[in-house]
Amino acid sequence: MPVAEGAVSDLFGRPLFFSLYDWFLEHGSVYKLAFGPKAFVVVSDPIVARHILRENAFSFDKGVLADILEPIMGKGLIPADLDTWKQRRRVIAPGFHALYLEAMVKVFTDCSERTTMKFEKLLDGEHSRGGDVIELDLEAEFSSLALDIIGLGVFNYDFGSITKESPVIKAVYGTLFEAEHRSTFYIPYWKIPLARWVVPRQRKFHYDLKIINDCLDGLIRNAKDNRQEADVEKLLQRDYLNIKDASLLRFLVDMRAADVDDRQLRDDLMTMLIAGHETTAAVLTWSVFLLAQNPSKIRKAQAEIDSVLGKERPTYESIKKLEYIRLIIVEALRLYPQPPLLIRRALKADVLPGGYKGDKDGYAIPAGTDIFVSVYNLHRSPYFWDRPHDFIPERFLIQKKSEGIEGWAGFDPSRSPGALYPNEIISDFAFLPFGGGPRKCVGDQFALMESTVVLAILLQKFDVELKGSPESVELVTGATIHTKKGLWCKLKKRSYGH
Ligand code: HEM
Repeated sequence: MPVAEGAVSDLFGRPLFFSLYDWFLEHGSVYKLAFGPKAFVVVSDPIVARHILRENAFSFDKGVLADILEPIMGKGLIPADLDTWKQRRRVIAPGFHALYLEAMVKVFTDCSERTTMKFEKLLDGEHSRGGDVIELDLEAEFSSLALDIIGLGVFNYDFGSITKESPVIKAVYGTLFEAEHRSTFYIPYWKIPLARWVVPRQRKFHYDLKIINDCLDGLIRNAKDNRQEADVEKLLQRDYLNIKDASLLRFLVDMRAADVDDRQLRDDLMTMLIAGHETTAAVLTWSVFLLAQNPSKIRKAQAEIDSVLGKERPTYESIKKLEYIRLIIVEALRLYPQPPLLIRRALKADVLPGGYKGDKDGYAIPAGTDIFVSVYNLHRSPYFWDRPHDFIPERFLIQKKSEGIEGWAGFDPSRSPGALYPNEIISDFAFLPFGGGPRKCVGDQFALMESTVVLAILLQKFDVELKGSPESVELVTGATIHTKKGLWCKLKKRSYGH
């Protein structure tokens, strides 16, 4: 297997996934990256990714990622061992059924409107001073909005973070910050006995975790105390839209899928809180970043919004007609996948299949091999995408053929009939925004619809520009790709349309 010989400094000067991309072009789609005592196999090929994530999925676990996340998410779905995962996935995945998603669209809309009302108020203030533009860090606003939505959607808790700060919100951000620190820090010093008492940031981390856990425990108690047979009846009769609390927690409790110990349920909720918050906020951030550099695409999006929605709120049905907005979201996910790398560890010796070019026999890997499936490299591979670094939402409308690449079936929408958004099945694992195989994201449709609704409402009401140059928006990465100092934008009420 080719070995990338990067200096360790390459790993710190800039986001890791940039260096992994350069080495992919130099060494091919499967290479070994060795630094110090650690080594990773970096995969940038759809056939090999399909093998690891789907065909031989149960021969791999989450490795380094589980080590990092376990103290936060416990036995939640992302880091869970296989036995726990099998039990919990079976009961959680059905919670994201179509009627739940339909009920959630109302939550997405209500929360987005709370955000746009805040912007309108700021603009009114600006008007009274004779101006018509406000400057805002939209990344921070999306983060608050996504937190409010995930709180309501998963456990019917209104963080209200658009308008206020609270100890729980601070604790959520503190925990995310620590998760990120751990995912980029070289030596897991937090595992050293006493570190949690001695190192100030570790003390703070455990204090934050306790605040969130107490909050979640209270919500679980409350949901169990208020379990209502009538609601279960309604659930069974599929009268979902009339249930006051449509949250996932309510579903799990009412359907008795929550009859596990409270610790497991809390781990499940914590996992979804973390997994569904910054990821969605990041997709919205990069969608706006890309759009702001392409005013003609903003106008095209606004024309679609005007014709589909006019001045109305988005609904479950209208999302189906907002095709261009949906494509903007998936194109942003292609260019800025969250997370940019999927992490696995081989549980037993395996042979990775040959990739799309060269190395047809593949590579044997021993048990314990740590693997990065670089979604960033796959999504920007010059072998599968025309103008891979350009923002072209329309590209998903053009069916690509496999171009004779052995073992890769190419793009084919008929493989996933009725799918609203392009996915890994249509692209035969060249496009993996939510992973693939059994451990694929459970919240993918939730997140996609949420992003579509938020973006549609924002562009329905405002014109958006970047405050500075695109180059000044520097990237940093931990679990997700985000900006160094925020996505500072200028917002103006729309001069036409709404
Ligand atoms: C797993 C991405 C939103 C819950 C994953 C994975 C990816 C992903 C790539 C697979 C990880 C792996 O294979 O190692 C995203 C993105 C989102 C998003 C890009 C937003 C745009 C959400 C939301 C929720 C959620 C909203 C919950 C409400 C989960 C869970 C898993 C997961 C529970 C673990 C699934 C399992 O192992 O069975 N997500 N996610 N995600 N995601 Fe998401």
